[in-house]
Amino acid sequence: MRHDLSTRATEARELMDDPHADIGMLERTYRRFRLVNALVSRPRLLYRQDILPRARRGPIRILDIGAGGGDVCRMIAARARRAGLEVEITALDADERAIRWAAEHDGGAGIAYRCAFSSDLVAEGEQFDVVFSNHVLHHLTGAELDGLLRDSEALVGSGGVVVHRDIARTRLAYVLYDVATRILAGTLFRGSFIREDGLISIRRSYTRGELAALVPSGWTVHFGLPSRLELRRRADAVS
Ligand SMILES: C[S@@+](CC[C@H](N)C(=O)[O-])C[C@H]1O[C@@H](n2cnc3c(N)ncnc32)[C@H](O)[C@@H]1O
Repeated sequence: MRHDLSTRATEARELMDDPHADIGMLERTYRRFRLVNALVSRPRLLYRQDILPRARRGPIRILDIGAGGGDVCRMIAARARRAGLEVEITALDADERAIRWAAEHDGGAGIAYRCAFSSDLVAEGEQFDVVFSNHVLHHLTGAELDGLLRDSEALVGSGGVVVHRDIARTRLAYVLYDVATRILAGTLFRGSFIREDGLISIRRSYTRGELAALVPSGWTVHFGLPSRLELRRRADAVS
């Protein structure tokens, strides 16, 4: 079926967001996020560009909002440890199924897992040097996106940075993901939501222009190949 990608499919819901989703399929999905992120999200870029330069100046605090299976946090923790850098990482997710799975698979990374909303951390007066998310923006309603951006501004400390990373809705992204996951559907991705939810996610995602039109001043939206979006704000940005 050829979906119309000219507008966001806001009515389509990812299967993993269903509170009654099959727990076995959900856990296989969390497990496979690591592979999907390694292939499509380029998490090492976040580490090199935003984390490494700050961590080299001294201990830093990092917040991952909507951490899912926690694989990006574990990658950052492992790299920082190998480089002898001091980073304190909080993995936050509103879904306690994700937080439970991620905490059980910490593997000695020493990450703090919290089942909460970003607004809870704002209420607690928490501050971080790097606030980021990956593949979360497209899950949110307009009001939730506004809230996430406001919370991110409050949570980032002086000299810090906020980076929300997501898919860009393009035909290329859809076709590439469709072909790749069709090949792996019967093997690596069997019994998970990776294929169905990934395709829904692309249909729900923003184009660069759509996201740029929504965000308040002080935020910048960048497009990256093959089909990525990065929404950024520095702590000292003037609104
Ligand atoms: C597709 S997963 C992405 C997980 C992970 N960041 C990754 O890249 O693999 C999206 C996650 O965002 C979480 N999420 C969605 N809205 C959220 C919110 N308002 N606050 C915290 N987490 C949220 C969901 O529970 C889900 O685990």
